[in-house]
Amino acid sequence: MTYGRYLALDDLLAAQHPRSDRHDELLFIIIHQTKELWLKQILAELRLAKALVRDGKLIEAYKGLARISRIQAVMTLSWDVLATMTPSDYTRFRQVLGPSSGFQSDQFRAVETMLGLRGGGVPGPLTTAAAAEPSLWDDANAAMAAAGFPLPAEALARDWPQPYAPSEAVRAAWAEVYRDPTRHWDLYQLAEKLVDIDDALATWRHKHVLTVSRVIGGKPGTGGTAGVSYLESTLAKRAFPELWSLRTDL
Ligand code: HEM
Repeated sequence: MTYGRYLALDDLLAAQHPRSDRHDELLFIIIHQTKELWLKQILAELRLAKALVRDGKLIEAYKGLARISRIQAVMTLSWDVLATMTPSDYTRFRQVLGPSSGFQSDQFRAVETMLGLRGGGVPGPLTTAAAAEPSLWDDANAAMAAAGFPLPAEALARDWPQPYAPSEAVRAAWAEVYRDPTRHWDLYQLAEKLVDIDDALATWRHKHVLTVSRVIGGKPGTGGTAGVSYLESTLAKRAFPELWSLRTDL
């Protein structure tokens, strides 16, 4: 075994194929590829964390959930690298992308779906498989019910692929946890790990839209949306909506 063979570097480093002779296209490709690698790691962490939460092993799940929000922070930081690519640099090769766009990232959509955001974008095979299962938010609510909180049946046995509708009973139950953290420390800690992930996802979205407006202004996206205005419409998405709304009740 060697370093190069273990990491399949021949394959990895042969996987960048700029379609123009513009210097910045390599950066554009590498930023997107590293994002897909990090998404792969996030999906692996989510699979493990979901199984642990479903088994009631909340403390064991914290480590992976914390790792996810740290990876998200790295992904957000990489916007600053991409922002060194000016509109003048990007417009010189943008046409080679054709209709391709991050909009079509199956791994990104699968992460959203596993967290609890369903029904958006272009569902690829990973997303479709994830949508057939309860989300992390469904798993967390099942853990609440197992801890004795009275949650309505419709919050626990949904039609999984359908978008999640926030519930007053779920909000009230989690508000109870926040009112008395010492009594429900494991659920309280779980909730804060989930808020960290939602917070980091929203921060990533904000930095994406800022970078996009810096690079393409008001032009439409290559994926067929209106561009910045579409991305702004995604900023309010929350995978764990009641964990945000309950803060008003405290
Ligand atoms: C100059 C660089 C970039 C521009 C101008 C840009 C622009 C856009 C636009 C306009 C959209 C909306 C869909 C469309 O019409 O295409 C979009 C979606 C998206 N982009 Fe980017 N993007 C850039 C870089 C990136 C990078 C580096 C990533 C990954 C790290 C990324 C990931 C995504 C994702 C995941 C979506 C779907 C978002 C959603 O539907 O919630 N983009 N991008």
